[in-house]
Amino acid sequence: MTLKQSATAVRENAHAPYSGFKVGAAIRAASGTVYAGCNVENVAYPEGTCAEAGAIAAMVAAGETTLIEVYVMADSPAPVPPCGGCRQKLAEFGAGDVAVTMGTTGGAEQVTTIADLLPGAFNAAHMDNS
Ligand code: THU
Repeated sequence: MTLKQSATAVRENAHAPYSGFKVGAAIRAASGTVYAGCNVENVAYPEGTCAEAGAIAAMVAAGETTLIEVYVMADSPAPVPPCGGCRQKLAEFGAGDVAVTMGTTGGAEQVTTIADLLPGAFNAAHMDNS
């Protein structure tokens, strides 16, 4: 299965009764294994989680901490970029040059990178105060 196929398939499982907006994400880890996640909303709205967060959690739970490719799929007029929080989550596990492809169910696709999504990212070096 390609990343796109994986993101498309997992999107069907999204729990999005409040927004009605299902999102699927698939990430390839350094081992080559693909991890998938979907948005999981909650009646207490802030408790909902994004598709990207679910895919990252699956990767980490499986014992991997490096991602090398990302695909996000949504049913939208234009490709959907990861939210601010997910950009920081992606930056935690992926290098700046990692490709993030955003696709729509209609067939549009846009490719960017983690660095372009999060310029000036906060990182561990910023805490070096010794
Ligand atoms: N959402 C994602 O899962 N990923 C994105 O990249 C953008 C937004 C979800 C969060 C929420 O469940 C719904 O889309 C509407 O914001």
